[in-house]
Formats: sequence, C-alpha cells, structure tokens
Amino acid sequence: MSKRKGIILAGGTGSRLSPITLGVSKQLLPVYDKPMIYYPLSTLMLAGITEILIITNKKDKPNFERLLKDGQQIGINIKYAIQDKPEGIPQAFTIGESFIDDSPVTLILGDNLFHGQDLISKLQKCNSLNIGANLFAYPVRDPENYGVAEFNNKGKLINIIEKPKNPKTQYAITGIYFYDNSVIERTKMLKKSVRGEYEITDLNLSYLKDNKLNVELMGRGMAWLDTGNFESLHEASGYIRTLEHRQGLKVGCPEEIAWRMGWIDNKQLSSLAITTSKSGYGEYLINLISKTKAQTQ
Ligand code: TTP
Repeated sequence: MSKRKGIILAGGTGSRLSPITLGVSKQLLPVYDKPMIYYPLSTLMLAGITEILIITNKKDKPNFERLLKDGQQIGINIKYAIQDKPEGIPQAFTIGESFIDDSPVTLILGDNLFHGQDLISKLQKCNSLNIGANLFAYPVRDPENYGVAEFNNKGKLINIIEKPKNPKTQYAITGIYFYDNSVIERTKMLKKSVRGEYEITDLNLSYLKDNKLNVELMGRGMAWLDTGNFESLHEASGYIRTLEHRQGLKVGCPEEIAWRMGWIDNKQLSSLAITTSKSGYGEYLINLISKTKAQTQ
C-alpha cells in the first residue's frame, strides 16, 4: 500500500471576506501571526503526511509558491495545482488524480483550523486506516450551515444531510477527510447538485451506502474553527493569540513540526529562522533549539 498523500484545497472565491479577497487569497490572510494555510498544512504534517498538493486559483498560485516553495525547506514535498472554477470540494480528487496515484488521500480545507489535546493521536490513527472514509464530527451552535451527521440509538452514523433546515443533531462534519483510493472513481460518479457544485456530502454518502464510512466524534475539548467570514477570522486570531501568549508555544508552526518530526535538523531550522528573525517568529524557532539543548545538558 502506498503512503497516504495530502491535499489542501485553497481555491474558492472567498466572497464572504470581500473586499479583502478581491486582492488576496483568503488562505494567505493572517490568522494572528501566520498565514491561514500554515494551520491546515500543520495538521497534515501532524498526521505524518509529507507528500502534499495545494490546489489554488490560477492568479494566486505564484503567491502560495513564493510562501511555501517545494516544501524541501521543511522536509516535505509540496506540489501545486489549479482549480479553474470553484465547482465543489470533491473536484480536489479529479484535479489531484495523478498526484494521488494509487495512494489513500487526506483532504483538508484551506480555511479550517484544528487544535486540541487528542488531535495528533486522532489524526495518526486515521492515517493508518487505509479502507473506506474516516471523518470527524464536531458539535457546533449553527449546524444548519454544515453537513450534519445523524446517528441511530447505538451511536452508528446513519445519514449526513447537507445544510438541513431542521438539523437532528449539532454534529457538523469537519473539513478534514481521510479516504481510500476509491475516492477518485467515486468522485467521477458524482452529479452536480442544484446549486451547481459537486458536493462533499454526496461523496461521503457513497461510502456510507457501501458501509465504508466511519465518523469519529471530536469532543468539546477540541477546537475546530473555520475562518471564512470576518467574525470567525477575528475569533480564530484571538484564539491563537491567547494560547500562544499563555503557553509561549506556537500553534500551527510547520517549521517546528518538521523539526520535532525529525524531518529537518537544528542547522536547517536555524537557517529558516534567519528569514523570519525580525517578527519574533524566527526568534521562536531559535529558542526551540536552545531550550532543548539546555534541557538535555
Ligand atoms: P467555502 O468557504 O465554502 O467557499 P469560499 O472559500 O469560496 O468562500 P465564500 O463562501 O466566502 O465564497 O470553501 C471552503 C474551503 O474550500 C476554502 O478553503 C475554499 C475551498 N474551496 C475550493 O478551493 N474550491 C471549491 O470549489 C470550494 C467549494 C471550496
């Protein structure tokens, strides 16, 4: 079985953040002290995924390439692809077909931010499952804006309804999806919905129909934030700022994750720190090395 690959879907129109997004891609906007895309990138890296495809709009692709390059600097491999028109999340699998090849694949939405105690173990568990689809459901105040999971009285998932008017549960399906390789063929069978898009919920229902869909609950101790409108973007920045100020540790720092995973060494981390030294970000990276040295002496 080939190693799981990762896709970050970072196209879209970002119309809920207009006029900001008239000039810049949503996923390059800051969430406190780093670009939004650092968070989903970090999440894939924490799952142990090192082969990553970033899908963007045509006009924004050079900006993402300038920011993240080919990934070698953080010990991973990043490729880029273009989504001509935002016609739905499952398009990631047809655009990414040759990249995915015969591997299982994890898709994460470029504006989704995950954080919490159990996150790494949950991600790594999903990474090791190579059959079917594995999703997460998370309780939200406004489930009517999401794909909502419905369970039977034994807690087994029985349905997912896209943006229901009267949601039966508060559990929204989050924006990280672990699939086996059949996702490519399943995507090709999808038909556009009445709103003219291929729907991720239809893709997930195709797995459910074959009894190959597993949904795990994310508890209230975890944070799943999406950053698609002014309020949620501001709230996400506040959340990250509060955590980072209190702990002195960064959330969603790909350089740190690469170093902790052993994908880059002290020398490589130091050279990454030079380019970001004036903002305090580089200082943080340098301090990681000196703190570890002090603790092992
Ligand atoms: P959305 O937030 O649903 O859409 P959007 O980013 O275009 O924003 P808006 O609703 O304000 O117009 O998309 C969620 C994520 O998925 C986001 O990171 C963009 C990405 N996306 C694509 O890249 N292509 C698509 O076709 C769709 C539907 C979403």
